[in-house]
Amino acid sequence: MDSMDSLNFALGTIPFGSTVSPEDSFAILDRFAEAGGTLLDTANNYPFWLEGRTGDESEQTIGAWLAARGNRDRMVLSTKVGARPAVPGDRTLDSAEGLSREAIAKGVEGSLRRLGTDRIDLYWTHIEDRSVPLEETLGALDELHRAGKVDRVGASNIPAWRLERARALARSNGWLPYTHLQLRHSYLRPRPWARLPEGGHTQVSDETLDYVRHEPDLTLWAYSTLIFGAYTRPERMPEAYDHPGTAARLRVLREVAGELGATPNQVVLAWLMAQGIVPIVGVSRMEQLEEAVGAARVKLDQELMARLEEPA
Ligand SMILES: NC(=O)c1ccc[n+]([C@@H]2O[C@H](COP(=O)([O-])OP(=O)(O)OC[C@H]3O[C@@H](n4cnc5c(N)ncnc54)[C@H](OP(=O)(O)O)[C@@H]3O)[C@@H](O)[C@H]2O)c1
Repeated sequence: MDSMDSLNFALGTIPFGSTVSPEDSFAILDRFAEAGGTLLDTANNYPFWLEGRTGDESEQTIGAWLAARGNRDRMVLSTKVGARPAVPGDRTLDSAEGLSREAIAKGVEGSLRRLGTDRIDLYWTHIEDRSVPLEETLGALDELHRAGKVDRVGASNIPAWRLERARALARSNGWLPYTHLQLRHSYLRPRPWARLPEGGHTQVSDETLDYVRHEPDLTLWAYSTLIFGAYTRPERMPEAYDHPGTAARLRVLREVAGELGATPNQVVLAWLMAQGIVPIVGVSRMEQLEEAVGAARVKLDQELMARLEEPA
């Protein structure tokens, strides 16, 4: 599912149908598919936190596009459950639906309806819900798999120890295990212990990367890979990235990009892809998509990877 000939990044779709108009979203989706992209990342709550939005918009826009183009079978649909507010109008995660059997059964029907399909290729638990036993969540996901509604499952915003526990439980009960993990990750790293302003975000850790490297059947998808555009728009760099390591890494990143005739954003995406990580790229304009598509042509050999890893 994750390997493709030309384009091994997923298209992030948070603004589709809201801050990016349906027409512009269709144009971006068309170009992505034309360039060989197949992986579409959405959730059953994008973008519920914006005034006047329900959280249906992204899935609905993708569903409308798939129907208009008749290309459902060519695309890999990745969507999520767990973080949709149960109280309409709540713009926080305080009333999140969570991961009970009932919430998951209801959640999947909503996503299937909005996406206009009978199956989800990759279904994620969006956040953790420690009020529900892992057995209940995993059993519910397995039921969806056996019913043919969900092909594979992934966990987002979960620490390594809980993921390992979930995978061990699934193995011992014969349930479909999590084979995908989705966390925030980019070339630049926030200060350890920094509190990220984006409430639900979980930053990748060394421990998680170590775990992923040693689990051949586990694939990491990274989000906020371009740090909201901050590599080229420094005013967007979050405060949590303000430390000496950032300056050192930016220096090498720019050097390498210059030598390759690539942009820093492209080198960041190529750096992730070279490690077998699937970057999710959020774009709101066509030229941003073109820049990401161009990253597939940027090849980083061992020497360049080592140079990029040099600054701590
Ligand atoms: N699992 C989770 O909890 C989780 C959390 C967050 C995101 N995600 C997924 O990851 C996707 C992307 O995440 P994200 O939007 O947080 O982060 P991102 O990809 O780092 O940032 C996307 C934004 O960066 C700017 N940008 C993109 N390409 C650019 C370029 N070439 N040059 C300059 N600026 C550029 C654009 O801002 P402007 O639109 O302002 O131009 C774009 O909207 C989401 O759509 C979603 O699918 C998942």
